[in-house]
Amino acid sequence: MSGHRLLLENAQQVVLVCARGERFLTGSALRSLAVLEGASLVVGSDGLIKAVGPADVIQRQFSGETFEERIDCSGKCVLPGLVDAHTHPVWAGERVHEFAMKRATYMDIHQAGGGINFTVEHTRQASEEELFCSFRQRLQCMMRAGTTLVECKSGYGLDLETELKMLRVMERARRELPLSLSATYCGAHSVPKGKTAVEAADDIISHHLPRLKALSRKGELHVDNIDVFCEKGVFDLDTTRRILEGGKKMGLQINFHGDELHPMKAAELGAELGAQAVSHLEEVSDDGIAAMAAAQCSAVLLPTTAYMLRLKQPRARKMIDEGVIVALGSDFNPNAYCFSMPMVMHLACVNMRVSMPEALAAATINAAYALGKSHAHGSLEVGKQGDAVIINASRWEHLIYQFGGHHELIDYVITKGKVI
Ligand code: NIG
Ligand code: FE
Repeated sequence: MSGHRLLLENAQQVVLVCARGERFLTGSALRSLAVLEGASLVVGSDGLIKAVGPADVIQRQFSGETFEERIDCSGKCVLPGLVDAHTHPVWAGERVHEFAMKRATYMDIHQAGGGINFTVEHTRQASEEELFCSFRQRLQCMMRAGTTLVECKSGYGLDLETELKMLRVMERARRELPLSLSATYCGAHSVPKGKTAVEAADDIISHHLPRLKALSRKGELHVDNIDVFCEKGVFDLDTTRRILEGGKKMGLQINFHGDELHPMKAAELGAELGAQAVSHLEEVSDDGIAAMAAAQCSAVLLPTTAYMLRLKQPRARKMIDEGVIVALGSDFNPNAYCFSMPMVMHLACVNMRVSMPEALAAATINAAYALGKSHAHGSLEVGKQGDAVIINASRWEHLIYQFGGHHELIDYVITKGKVI
């Protein structure tokens, strides 16, 4: 007789998302997600999914075996833990006052010393402990909304010392909190005061990256991705290329902000450099979309940003039709204060006209792909991490349909087979 960690019994629906080991979903596959009716799921003592299938089959297969925890899921739905592919959650200094300034453009606020620059000043002054405490609270809010894997960017330090402080805070969260994290070095989030973009890039390439490399060799820091804010008035295409190439050389995945406020040919650059993802893409060109599809470079779309800044919506429909791997992120940051992937999926459906299955795939398997982690996350398949969300509704679509108030809908969030 062997012991297992968790049995989710007899759910009305178990949404696997995909069932054949796919690393991402594109095109029409996004519209026919794998869903089981009347199903159960078992997570083993290693935190990995051991079995999922019709409730009677699972019952026979595991009869007489023991479970640390059993949850009766009658009338409820089980979905994969949500994956948030783009956040900026480590910072100090509220920017609630900027919400009242939303008739000014994002760049006007930025150039007047607000926006990222404001947050940089406060984050530099904050202690590591203070940053960790607010970060932990934000992660807890994300988890309560169903997120079990989250990408987290640095980028409110710009100087090496503060960037490292932010990355250490992420490292501590990775060890102390139950959700999974993908850490992104985003030292090129803005051009620091008193420097040109080229000088900032030189500094990043000759000082920041070698230091990160040394620290990750010693196992002191895990950095997964490199990011640049490629934008007119911030980092141009050539400077972006140099920084991303520097990161790639040291083994980081490329995952950067591009084609947000102005068309920059960032999508084309991402495809050329073998980027894992490019985020935003409100201003992407047709060629950029084609290049991303061909290169299997995922598009991380951020519905909260287009909504908050009243930007035009990224062309999600065209991207899906052309075979781009479309993913979603909350872009949680002091400007877009949204912890909730259910809300993000809802906005994507309404404003970008994606369907509910497309939105769910974009917030699970495809978001996991954008982080290079879809072998272990993003669907309820045997061998993957036992991360799930249980909702108190008889159809999974309620998770997207409902506009806010998700705490009442989400009964349990589970990571590695443990209720959190
Ligand atoms: O993705 N565009 C650059 N970065 C963030 C905003 C960061 C901030 O305003 O603090 C974004 O929207
Ligand atoms: Fe961002």
